[in-house]
Amino acid sequence: MKLTRGTFLAGVLGEFTGALDHTALFDLWSNWSLAQGPIVVGEPPAIELPLQDKSLRFAVIGDNGTGARPQYEVGSLMAKTRAKFPFEFVLMMGDNIYGRKSKSAFKRKFEDPYKTLLEDGVKFYASLGNHDDPNEIYYQPFHMGGKRYYNWKSGNAEFFALDSTYMNPAQLTWIEEKLRESSAAWKFCFFHHALYSDGRFHGPDLDLRARLEPIFVKYGVAVVFNGHEHFYERLQPQKEIHYFVVGNSGQLRRGNIRPGPNLAKGFDTDQAFLIAEVVGKEFYFQTISRSGNTVDSGMIPLHR
Ligand SMILES: [Fe+2]
Repeated sequence: MKLTRGTFLAGVLGEFTGALDHTALFDLWSNWSLAQGPIVVGEPPAIELPLQDKSLRFAVIGDNGTGARPQYEVGSLMAKTRAKFPFEFVLMMGDNIYGRKSKSAFKRKFEDPYKTLLEDGVKFYASLGNHDDPNEIYYQPFHMGGKRYYNWKSGNAEFFALDSTYMNPAQLTWIEEKLRESSAAWKFCFFHHALYSDGRFHGPDLDLRARLEPIFVKYGVAVVFNGHEHFYERLQPQKEIHYFVVGNSGQLRRGNIRPGPNLAKGFDTDQAFLIAEVVGKEFYFQTISRSGNTVDSGMIPLHR
């Protein structure tokens, strides 16, 4: 992108709104940044995942719904990535729609940035963040079925979306029952607030961790995806559970990671998304930045 006065100011305003989560400024920032010319992105990096026949493939995004240029750039790169690595669906970590929630806002902050993916039949499964309107559960393209927390099976995996902003006893009972009943080899949980994080701005949600972690450990959850922190982080396994933070698919809180002993990989200098592939008892992941670099990748074996 060419640096003009407009792009410079939009960038500065983007940093400002990203730092403050100031909803009133999002629409101003996004309008301004989109007015700076067409969205042009480069090519995705080489795909490192095994790309095996009949594997389960999906992507992960979080804190994406700004309606601003970086979200559109990530959306375009995701579509280009999908041409090489056809993923079936996308998990959303919440803060799906910042600022105004009008019909046109859903178009500009969701339907337009992911237009190609949506036209190709990619399903998005959302969880709710603290900036979301609870009525998003009725927005059909988020596939929440009118529920704040829900689950579905896909191949040898089962996915559980939670609403971490309102973690009440009924939801805790629900997740415990569903995990107990699940016969899936891979149990993936996703929700907005991170149980583990090295973010300066928020840090880990210790109250939520105290309530959820014992259930996850007891029923063998393998991988947890979160957002809320506007960067990418992979944590060292905690009680055999692998935690990922993907909260920079639209937002970015630059330089916000304060490395601690739990950090396995951190990336806080650009927007990013994650692609994943489940092959039998192996889970592969690759995290790709907005500028088309692989910032993290690896394989996690099923531990039980
Ligand atoms: Fe958030």
